[in-house]
Amino acid sequence: MLEAREGNKVATNNLNYADMIEHERLPRHIAIIMDGNGRWARKRLMPRTMGHRAGINSIRRVVEACVDIGIPVLTVFAFSTENWKRPLDEVDYLMKLLVEFLHKELKALDENNIRISILGNYELLPDKCKIEIAEAVQITQDNSGMSFNIALNYGSRSEILEAVRCLAKEIAKGEISAEDITEEHFSSLLYTKGLPDPDLLIRTAGEMRLSNFLLWQIAYTELWVTDLMWPDFSREELLKAIWEFQQRDRRFGGLGR
Ligand code: FPP
Repeated sequence: MLEAREGNKVATNNLNYADMIEHERLPRHIAIIMDGNGRWARKRLMPRTMGHRAGINSIRRVVEACVDIGIPVLTVFAFSTENWKRPLDEVDYLMKLLVEFLHKELKALDENNIRISILGNYELLPDKCKIEIAEAVQITQDNSGMSFNIALNYGSRSEILEAVRCLAKEIAKGEISAEDITEEHFSSLLYTKGLPDPDLLIRTAGEMRLSNFLLWQIAYTELWVTDLMWPDFSREELLKAIWEFQQRDRRFGGLGR
């Protein structure tokens, strides 16, 4: 039995996280490192690609749950700049899944007023992906509901370097001086421009690392890791993560409550 803490709603073994969550203190931005597709498949003696396919269902579940709960921003790490090192057939399959996902889900995402954005340099993706992405981004650009960001060919270090290059050019042209470089200005040069920093970063499959994901943006993010493999990640697990996030004492370097 979990211990009830003073000031918090009581948590028991018979947990109903949906009722326990405080809706006025939701994370504004949830970011997810979806890990464990390969292990999930291996355990079932299936090819790794089947793990990725099963992972799509988890994305669908999580998007749906975030819309229901009222999470303003959701970001999922779908393909990193390092993922090109994987065997060609796995990379091809991931690209195929992306096309299939956007093609199948665009209508429902749009009807749910979801705004789709891509974090990362997707110019380097195959043409089929670029076409689907451009359509999804364009069709949903004026939606005012949840922002759903898919990190694709994304790497935080290269994102930061690109911002630094941009700053160097602005300085060289005399547009700003070195003293004018503020955190706000730097943030505005990142893919996440205009979005709140993640309040909660979820990682599945138990690994305790950040894998070059949103390194600037997660300076004060609460980290939450589950041993569940991504294809097993459920709505209930998401609610649990949000509830546990709400039990944390966020001090942002200060002394807190
Ligand atoms: C990590 O599992 C997961 C990925 C590299 C990609 C996540 C991709 C999906 C869920 C599907 C594609 C996404 C979209 C939006 C179409 P892993 O293969 O590293 O698992 P392992 O660590 O167990 O090997």
